[in-house]
Amino acid sequence: MFLMASQYPVALLVGAVVFLLYTITSLQRKYHQYRIARANHCQPVRFQVSKDPFLGLDSIRDNIDCAKKHILLERSLSRFRQYGNTFRTRRLRTPIIVTREPQNIKTILSLRFKDYGLGNRIHAFGPLLGHGIFTSDGEHWAHSRAMIRPNFVKDQVAHLDIFEDLMGDLLALIPTDGTTVDMQELFFSYTIDSATEFLFGHSVQSLKKRLSGVETDENDFASAFNYAQDAIATSTRLGPLRHLFRDRKAAQCNRVCHELVEQFVEKALQYRANYQEEAAVDDEKKPRYLFLQGLAQQTGDRTRIRDELMNVLLAGRDTTASLLSNMFFMLAKHPRVWQKLREEVASLQGRAPTYAQLRNLTYLKYCMNESLRVHPVVPSNARFAVTDTVLPVGGGLDGNAPVFVPKGSIVAYNVYSMHRREDFYGSDAGEYRPERWADLRPGWEYLPFNGGPRICVGQQYALTEAGYVTVRLVQQFSVLESRDPGPWEENLTLTLCSRNGTKVSFQSS
Ligand code: HEM
Repeated sequence: MFLMASQYPVALLVGAVVFLLYTITSLQRKYHQYRIARANHCQPVRFQVSKDPFLGLDSIRDNIDCAKKHILLERSLSRFRQYGNTFRTRRLRTPIIVTREPQNIKTILSLRFKDYGLGNRIHAFGPLLGHGIFTSDGEHWAHSRAMIRPNFVKDQVAHLDIFEDLMGDLLALIPTDGTTVDMQELFFSYTIDSATEFLFGHSVQSLKKRLSGVETDENDFASAFNYAQDAIATSTRLGPLRHLFRDRKAAQCNRVCHELVEQFVEKALQYRANYQEEAAVDDEKKPRYLFLQGLAQQTGDRTRIRDELMNVLLAGRDTTASLLSNMFFMLAKHPRVWQKLREEVASLQGRAPTYAQLRNLTYLKYCMNESLRVHPVVPSNARFAVTDTVLPVGGGLDGNAPVFVPKGSIVAYNVYSMHRREDFYGSDAGEYRPERWADLRPGWEYLPFNGGPRICVGQQYALTEAGYVTVRLVQQFSVLESRDPGPWEENLTLTLCSRNGTKVSFQSS
């Protein structure tokens, strides 16, 4: 459409008014922000030196390169050493504040929880996880959380039969003659079996399938799930640039994962169709709560059910398996620690532990705490400021002044680097030394399970499972040896496990 000559002055006037309004709104916003910053005594934060200070393209590239070389966490640590415990960077137009200050992390996760959300996480996580507990905020999140919580009441978590039932299969897959075995693979099978039984009421029985020696769908699922998570991590690092890189393999892997979950969607829908009758029968028996059934009572929407199940499967399988894999990697490298564990576990006289006994094994707790400190399973995370807000520290030359956080910023927090702060953990913060826990009573400087309203719902379950498996292995084998000549290296997708697996050998007493 063309403008008539007589219409030009009108168009110019409209343009000028729009420009003026935009400028006034921007100035008002800046002034408002300035007042918040001044009222809170905020100071500027150190800026990470960048060849591209406008878009931060070199930082994005550096992160992707480091992730490929499996040194991203070490790189993050060296950045904190260089720039201090809080610094600023940017990704395209988005300002990012990066921190490893407990006070700041407590503020975003708890004290000012409402000022933050997950932001655009759904863009990167959505293709695999859809809309579930890990990708939603507000009412959707509260609803997802309410449905899963009853699965983790103490009575259910203290019920150790599921773990014991699987131990036989796990032990049958471990050679006892000193041959090398990759425990990481086995732990991943163990935890998907226990999580599907515990949360969905039906185990995928991947350990049994391994035992039968048949190539299984579960093996396809395991590698597809790993790849799909790696793709999410890369997509997160790329931010909006993800649209320039198409990953066909990721789309294929997402399909494989969704197919595995479909069998549980069917079960949920069947349960929904019949649950009035089942409820009448079950009332007498007081069955345990199953997330799958709780979910099916709330919705018959296939996609919602699939997404929620997918989210919880990620939470249940990878996290505890990673804790076990990382810990056994270190136990195998530290025979003295293994020996001490054996001495503690000897008090059980070879019997399977009860829930109460498990909780009283202090050194076992130290070993798990220390693994989660040195190799936190969720080592880095982020929140998105949904309003103008303030962090308590990180500003000024000494990094002790409050920091203004404009709406739309990302605050990225790095638990891996926080857990290696020498001012909290001493000069040997990088070492695996469970004994340090005898004197440690950390607050927010130790955060493997997150904090605040979104704290991990599976924490007790995970520690019970990891503790139980460890005790049963300690009881079975007197000798644990590392068969990996190298140090632990990172394999960082959404969770953190060992790049070269957990190659060890066991021998019975
Ligand atoms: C060692 C094992 C585990 C670790 C280190 C761990 C850690 C975490 C962390 C750091 C978060 C926060 C994620 C975020 O907000 O971005 C989280 C959330 C969550 N975890 Fe765990 N987790 C573990 C095991 C489990 C298990 C076994 C389950 C369930 C079977 C589980 C279920 C969840 C759920 C549902 C959430 C989402 C909570 C929410 O957003 O409200 N976790 N976990």
